Amino acid sequence: MLTSAPRGTNDFLPGEVEKWQYLEKVIREICSQYGYGEIRTPIFEHTELFHRGVGDTTDIVEKEMYTFEDRGERSLTLRPEGTASTVRAFIQHKVYAQPQPTKLFYIGPMFRYDRPQAGRYRQFHQFGIEVFGSNDPAVDAEVIVMALDFYDRLGLTDLEVHINSVGCPKCRLDHRKTLQEHLRPKMAELCSLCQSRFERNPMRVLDCKNPKCQELTVEAPTTTKCLCPECLEHFEAVKKYLDSIGIKYVVNERLVRGLDYYTNTAFEIVARDIGAQSSIGGGGRYNGLIEQCGGQPTPGIGWAMGLERILLTMEKQGCKFPEAPPFDVFVATIGDVAKDAAFQLLAKLRKAGLAAEKDYLGRSLKAQMKYADKFKAGFTVIIGEDELNRGVVMVRNMAGGSQEEVALDKVLEYLKEKR
Ligand code: HAM
Repeated sequence: MLTSAPRGTNDFLPGEVEKWQYLEKVIREICSQYGYGEIRTPIFEHTELFHRGVGDTTDIVEKEMYTFEDRGERSLTLRPEGTASTVRAFIQHKVYAQPQPTKLFYIGPMFRYDRPQAGRYRQFHQFGIEVFGSNDPAVDAEVIVMALDFYDRLGLTDLEVHINSVGCPKCRLDHRKTLQEHLRPKMAELCSLCQSRFERNPMRVLDCKNPKCQELTVEAPTTTKCLCPECLEHFEAVKKYLDSIGIKYVVNERLVRGLDYYTNTAFEIVARDIGAQSSIGGGGRYNGLIEQCGGQPTPGIGWAMGLERILLTMEKQGCKFPEAPPFDVFVATIGDVAKDAAFQLLAKLRKAGLAAEKDYLGRSLKAQMKYADKFKAGFTVIIGEDELNRGVVMVRNMAGGSQEEVALDKVLEYLKEKR
């Protein structure tokens, strides 16, 4: 127990963490280009926020939340997703009083007590965006375009965008009725989960993965069939925008998403080669959520992507990650007197912006040179007692193998010029 992290969580060590830093760099670049500002919210929130925000009939709220009581007997929950917190912050800090729309992005850990498997963890990381304050279908199209642009920058290919419209609460009511009528005669044959969803959230029956349920619902009315004229017009406009710049998508009328807040556009991006957990991103519009969380009626839309799944797909597809920046200098020493000089030289080199390292275990020169290989430094500076007395050091160019004597007080200039 003491020597292993909790089930479904991961450590990221040097060697791998650089991939995360690269993702974060690309995220920050794309977000600034699309006009998004970063938001950082607490890792835990009042439990009530997720009941209200995510929805009581969702798997997340019903069985996946890490909920605990603090010492003040408040019920708190580790955030299972980022939308509810972003909405809460938007209301709390009166961001709505600024010129709209508000465009925010976040990167951070989320927590769900799910059954861990490849691509599914209990602590995972999302990159998400949220846009508040506009119901323009161009925004729906833009957020989808941005998601695809992000994947493209990472070199991912073979992705599918599935889109659907789940309509407004009015369309949903019509759909619920028609769907329940359709399902009622087949109730006994549905899986137990779908039976339990029949009253609480019948729409979710449409995306049940159970083959029998899928077979029974082949003819079931989809949300798209029950859209009111405004919702239909909105959906058509979103598709038209996507068509206008050649974005390929699949209309998947069974896509209903697992969170309760969606209205109108819902979408998911699927990678074909990472197995069962193939959804590398998903989102949609949620025009009622801000009001539901205590704000003024304000439209909203967004998405989130699982960064572990993105990395998994990048690795499967052989995407390139940038090379580590070169390490400049290893300072090796011979004898105790050289140690002080090495300490001072390191401070000087680092202050000037060079990446520099030395030995701290009293290794022999031979062992220091072996240890230096780990850093793949461009140069090794060897400080010996005799040389030090003459005010010089030996600088070895590790690529060519050549070495030169350089005055100790000129080493920095020398390395800057040669590297
Ligand atoms: P979600 O579909 O629940 O949506 O999660 C978004 C993405 O997070 C998924 O597509 C997947 O890549 C990743 N993900 C979810 N659960 C796990 C897990 N257990 N392990 C690894 N990755 C996971 C949301 O969270 C919404 N808040 C998205 C949104 C933002 N909708 C509107 N705005």
